[in-house]
Amino acid sequence: MSWTLKFWDSTVGKKVLMALTGAAGFVFVIGHMAGNMQVYLGRDQINAYAHFLHEKAGLLWVVRIALLAAVGLHVLSALQLQLIKRAARPVRYQKPGIIQATPASRTMIFTGLLLAWFLLYHLAHFTWGNAHPAFRELDAYNNIVTGFQHVPSSVFYIVCMVLLGLHLGHGGNALFFSLGLVHPKYRQAVRAITYALMLLVVIANISIPVAVLAGVLKI
Ligand code: HEM
Repeated sequence: MSWTLKFWDSTVGKKVLMALTGAAGFVFVIGHMAGNMQVYLGRDQINAYAHFLHEKAGLLWVVRIALLAAVGLHVLSALQLQLIKRAARPVRYQKPGIIQATPASRTMIFTGLLLAWFLLYHLAHFTWGNAHPAFRELDAYNNIVTGFQHVPSSVFYIVCMVLLGLHLGHGGNALFFSLGLVHPKYRQAVRAITYALMLLVVIANISIPVAVLAGVLKI
């Protein structure tokens, strides 16, 4: 068996892959949040940004394919690790004995799968437009404002951003352990930076549907 296949076959390999693909996802959501914030600078600014991304079609497709591969590998290794864990303990513990695990760490598989579902809805909503009531090609401002004027969609996004926060908060810390990058001296600093970035992404993203519903962002 080749080195790469052996690596993929081992639980350590899957953990490392999850950490690297998770880190790529974390970087993407920070960049995407920064792009989204341009909605506060007005219709022309956010639409110019959307046009700029679409003009660089080659680059956009490289990022799309890399992201799709990262999400696919992340979900696949998570599901495989879950199955390996189950197979290793066919009889469940009599007492759950949860001493250190936080709710976020125990629900990673659920928040992860819900986020994968959110992502599909989000693409149908803002990229393909088939789940949007008033979609206009390349008019990101219109799509964001009219999309979030629909209250159930806004509530759904807000709930998903909270799930994203739980997933990123635990995953962002865990990935440093999986990669063996946490020196006890820096553990607190890594945790503080991860939580600060996670809160920034969640609060900034939630502010958009809230601003639309409050009438701050309007057509
Ligand atoms: C309130 C929060 C969010 C808003 C307002 C938002 C807005 C948008 C908009 C307007 C687009 C379409 C851009 C265009 O094609 O012109 C888009 C695309 C996308 N968003 Fe979001 N987004 C949010 C949160 C997220 C989150 C949390 C994720 C990841 C978990 C995400 C992942 C994506 C992806 C993968 C695309 C497709 C990019 C492409 O065209 O390939 N978004 N988003």
